[in-house]
Amino acid sequence: MGGRLPLVVGNWKMNGTRVTNVELLAALRAAGPFDAEVSVCCPFPYLTDVALSLQGSGIGWGAQDCSQHELGAYTGEVAAAMLAEFGCRHVIVGHSERRLHHAESDTLVADKARLALAHGLTPIVCVGETRAERDGGSTEAVVKRQLSAVIHTLGHCVSQIVVAYEPIWAIGTGLTATPSQAQAVHSVLRGQLAAASTRASEMRLLYGGSVNAGNAQELFAQPDIDGALVGGASLRAADFSAICRAASHVALGSTGKSRT
Ligand code: 13P
Repeated sequence: MGGRLPLVVGNWKMNGTRVTNVELLAALRAAGPFDAEVSVCCPFPYLTDVALSLQGSGIGWGAQDCSQHELGAYTGEVAAAMLAEFGCRHVIVGHSERRLHHAESDTLVADKARLALAHGLTPIVCVGETRAERDGGSTEAVVKRQLSAVIHTLGHCVSQIVVAYEPIWAIGTGLTATPSQAQAVHSVLRGQLAAASTRASEMRLLYGGSVNAGNAQELFAQPDIDGALVGGASLRAADFSAICRAASHVALGSTGKSRT
């Protein structure tokens, strides 16, 4: 079986301006092409600009959320169908900042993933535990519960999603999970996916949480870490490009990592 193409996704969160976005993307484009798949998830209003900047570069783009509804009277929401119109390849769903600040439940996140797939987008489903949950020994139970809602809703189609393990205590804190801590959770997630789909070994599982140019390579060397969901470092072209290059080395097999 062939290896999994590493995937690096930038999550800009609520950052950027039209002017700085153009500069950032021009620099990223100049740093490419990469031998890994690369995508940038920007705030909704910037989608047209980002699409224009990245068209023809091979770098994809996407959004950070979508509605759980098809269309209709949902003021302030953005439908997956609309994101598809803007050429989005990816949409992040269930990011911990949305679970926390917008009270998103596991089933709501699963509904968003279902609609994203229905409109041809690849949902990047985020799971992850708090510091207290990790300290209390419930990391595995928490991420399994979060993923199981998605498996329940999607069935074997779950193989079409990307899963991002983002321990909440590592997000924006500079505290990265160690490669072995991250690998341990990724292995649990892949095992859970394998029980739902025969294609689990082809799925990309990303790590997110203070990924930077210095720690990416070691994380990507882990057998079940297939790339990264990058927050802060995705706002700096040099750092994000370095992470994309680290993933490219894995893709090219120059790290010795077995990708079968
Ligand atoms: P940081 O890379 O800034 O820790 O953010 C991670 C994240 O939340 C990506 O979705």
